[in-house]
Amino acid sequence: MTTYNIALLAGDGTGKEVTDEAVKVLKKISQKYSVDFNFEPALIGGCAYDKYKTPLPEITLEIAKKSDAVLLGAVGDWKYDKLPPEVRPERALLGIRKELNLFANLRPAIVYPELTSISPLKEDIVAGTDIMIVRELTGDVYFGTPKGIEIKNGEKFGYNNMCYYESEIKRIAHCAFKVAQQRNKKLCSVDKANVLDVSRLWRETITEISKQYPDVELTYMYVDNAAMQIIRNPKQFDVILTGNIFGDILSDEASMLSGSLGLLPSASLSDTKYAMYEPIHGSAPDLKGQNIVNPIATILSAAMMLKYSFKMDYAYNDIVTAVRQALKDGFRTKDISQPGANIIGTDKMGDVIAENILK
Ligand code: IPM
Ligand code: MG
Repeated sequence: MTTYNIALLAGDGTGKEVTDEAVKVLKKISQKYSVDFNFEPALIGGCAYDKYKTPLPEITLEIAKKSDAVLLGAVGDWKYDKLPPEVRPERALLGIRKELNLFANLRPAIVYPELTSISPLKEDIVAGTDIMIVRELTGDVYFGTPKGIEIKNGEKFGYNNMCYYESEIKRIAHCAFKVAQQRNKKLCSVDKANVLDVSRLWRETITEISKQYPDVELTYMYVDNAAMQIIRNPKQFDVILTGNIFGDILSDEASMLSGSLGLLPSASLSDTKYAMYEPIHGSAPDLKGQNIVNPIATILSAAMMLKYSFKMDYAYNDIVTAVRQALKDGFRTKDISQPGANIIGTDKMGDVIAENILK
């Protein structure tokens, strides 16, 4: 029997509510197949700050590094809004991404047929959408220096640096081309090369790397146009490759095609065994403790873990099927409610999906 160690970083707000449900589902997977999951909890974000005065304690990093994969809920709470930037909960997320070298962030935006009618866009526009956003995650203006706020010319002046090394662009490009090869072999690289030098290098580098993937059709799009095209005609996209900040923005936008932020999972991968899986939504502290948040994004993140870290594609498929069956059977959390639907809580949604695994 194989045993995988999973670092369980529930985080803040509703983080624990959603990771609990993912754990429930993973336990069913271990009943079904000869695999064991050993969960090791650790603190991250505001809750870690409360105990250790840092949102990303050494012990958490250690647990994450010796695990086979990290499952994360979400970080952040208004409680911590007044903290200095270096100890804010969000900093832990950036810190762990950097420490584990998780440069490749895969964010699938899939519109399930059961839910096309809850999309804020017209059904015929979104039906059948299946986009994989490949977001670079450890570079760009998120990590560039110099940065800061200072006094210049007698007034406050704030600045960040949008920058990429060629090597950083190359490695995410290889990742995205490989992802495209496994899908419909269409890759759209999104940048702002008409204005930004860093984007010019991005585009040149992607073009160079594309020669090694002649089977993939490469196109380019400026980010403003991409933001528009995602709404206008999302089905034109297969894989979108972009930098850290454009990817952050476009993935939130793309999540709305599916109707709820509560549906979108993500995988953050490195070129070692380090990997982290988390929903793309935040910690929603206003919803904490009410048993109403949607656990599906986190459950699907656990599914991505099975696929990408443990190579259990069959178990990934089991979970996706179980989620879709729950939706087909009319079960809905509040965020995806529809007239006539059976509205259930976070825990019940987890139960239904978990039960579907063994059916
Ligand atoms: C995300 C989030 C994070 C990001 C925040 C919480 C730091 O928005 O994962 O998309 O900007 O990357
Ligand atoms: Mg974001």
